[in-house]
Amino acid sequence: MKIIKTIVELREHLATFRHPAFVPTMGNLHDGHLALVRQAKPLGDVVVVSIFVNRLQFLPHEDFDTYPRTWEADCQALDAAGCDVVFAPSEKELYPQPQGFTVQPPTDLANMLEGHFRPGFFGGVCTVVMKLFACVQPRVALFGQKDYQQLMVIGRMVEQFALPIQVIGGQTLRAQDGLALSSRNNYLTPGERQEAVQLSMALKTMAQALRQGEANLSALEARAMQTLEARGWNPDYLTVRQRHNLQVPAATEVALMASNAGLVVLGAARIGSTRLIDNLEV
Ligand code: PAF
Repeated sequence: MKIIKTIVELREHLATFRHPAFVPTMGNLHDGHLALVRQAKPLGDVVVVSIFVNRLQFLPHEDFDTYPRTWEADCQALDAAGCDVVFAPSEKELYPQPQGFTVQPPTDLANMLEGHFRPGFFGGVCTVVMKLFACVQPRVALFGQKDYQQLMVIGRMVEQFALPIQVIGGQTLRAQDGLALSSRNNYLTPGERQEAVQLSMALKTMAQALRQGEANLSALEARAMQTLEARGWNPDYLTVRQRHNLQVPAATEVALMASNAGLVVLGAARIGSTRLIDNLEV
């Protein structure tokens, strides 16, 4: 496995490959990332993984400085998973000047849910992903479905800029108790870790109710929020959306969409000081 830190070296190295498969990450890798690497393997003639903690997608009060950086362990795990190239640029390499040109995703998709609670987040994500795409020039790029809205925003960006890249979602991996794997799980205290599964359980309960014909979405969402609040959580949202555009479904169409795999339930909530997100397709 080759470790590359500059754009020039990356371009030179990739020049002989025709079909790079790319997994962008911020490091602190878990099995979900490694599953993406394995999924990428047969899809390209070289698998490139980037590790770059992108300042542009963090708000000033968020965890940019404390985001876990686990370089040695990440490289070992990537090597074992079959990664061919790790691209790990410094901030100076990727942003030699303040990034004046940015990619701003459309507000109808990027200002709700995660974008509402983390203003500017998707602009930061799109800008770095566009830049990483320019460096790697992949033919295929893989992102985890746990970040459901991110996957959709990037898919739209690629479509609207006519980038010759196939965007593929990787299934969310879960711990035995059902907690979605996430780098931020490392922040949880043992007590919070035990409690953390309740977010996915709340989503499961919502999905079940939808399958059983519940059509009153505000009541369903309020119940889920209250359940988590009563357990000491601070939820941002637990909500039912249409899979294809993340808009709220019309009340009259909920039942039909629930039976036609047209819905997704999404949640974001803070336990202690850790904010977790998760989703379940219905
Ligand atoms: O999902 C992530 O880890 C990040 O948002 C990404 C896509 C690597 C961009 O920094």
